[in-house]
Parts: sequence; C-alpha cells; structure tokens
Amino acid sequence: MLPIPFNEATLKHVVERIRIVQDVLERPIVLENPSSYVTFADSNMSEWEFITRMANEADCGLLLDVNNVYVSSVNHDFDPVEYLEAVPHERVVQFHLAGHTNCGTHLIDTHDGEVIDPVWELYRLAHQLTGGVSTLLEWDAKIPAFPVMHAEVLKARRYMQSELVHSDTTSTVSEATIDDVATVPHPASFITAEVE
Ligand SMILES: [Fe+2]
Repeated sequence: MLPIPFNEATLKHVVERIRIVQDVLERPIVLENPSSYVTFADSNMSEWEFITRMANEADCGLLLDVNNVYVSSVNHDFDPVEYLEAVPHERVVQFHLAGHTNCGTHLIDTHDGEVIDPVWELYRLAHQLTGGVSTLLEWDAKIPAFPVMHAEVLKARRYMQSELVHSDTTSTVSEATIDDVATVPHPASFITAEVE
C-alpha cells in the first residue's frame, strides 16, 4: 500500500517479484491499483503506463479499483477516463467500488460511505471496456445497516446490467433478491459484498 515512483527501476523491481510469486504458486496473481496521496520526483511515467507495463511484463491479472482511480485522479490532477481506457482490459478480473472522504484539498480512500456519482460513471465505462467482471463493494468503516449496503450492491448490479438494457430493448433491469448477494469475509477482515 506504500506509494512507489513510477519509473523503469521500480517497474523492474515489481515485475521480478510478481514473477517469483507466480512461479512459486504456479498460477497468476492479481494486483490492485491503490489510492495514492503523494507523487515522486523520480517518476517518469504515468500510473496507468506503469500498471499496464507491469501487468503485461509480469503476465499477471489486475484488480481495478475504480474508486482508487478516481481518488488518485483528483489528488494528482489526471484524467481518470484516460487511465481506464489505457489499462489492458483483458487482464482485469475484478472491480472494486467504495466511498471516500473529501477533505477539500484532497480525497482519502476511507471505504466509509456510499459510492459517489462520478465513480459510478467511471464504473459504467470500466464495465463497458472490459465486457464485465465481478465487482466487490468495499465498505469497512462506519458500516451502515445491511439494507443500506444492500441497496448499494443493487445499484452496482443496475450499472452492470445497463449495457444489456441498451443492447436488448426487451430486457428490463430487475431487482436482485437478497439471496443474490454474497457477503464474504475479506482476507484483511474487511466487510465486503460481492456482485457476480
Ligand atoms: Fe480496493
């Protein structure tokens, strides 16, 4: 979770270690883009260029946290759409969605509230670009009553289905039942809700 400079030296460092882990496990692993709050004078490439080259050179998967893209885009003043369009979509195996805290001068990835509209729109784009992968809603502080979180999961499902509605006019977006939502323990003890 610590920030790193985006340059050839750290790219080589990271790729080598991903390959070692994958060789030991004998299977590909999936790496997530974090939120970040600082940049380095030593960086000479964008985060999306670094992520793309890392995934391609290490031959690993990506966990694309759409809220993290948004948080970092505000903190570092880059275009989140350019980020989403640039990463290798075929390597994305899961999305993360979460709320964050707006501190005025910067955003912090606090996972303690509802997903904001600009992030939902980025999620719609990411879903279209990748063709759709599973989504994990992260909400692990100020945890609300279950119906509130469940409503957020259903909202994610409506965004996931919007592409189907556009391509098939006979389809309608249906509300999922509570049985359709799996609440699973996160490895880091986060409370998460996954939409398949
Ligand atoms: Fe995440």
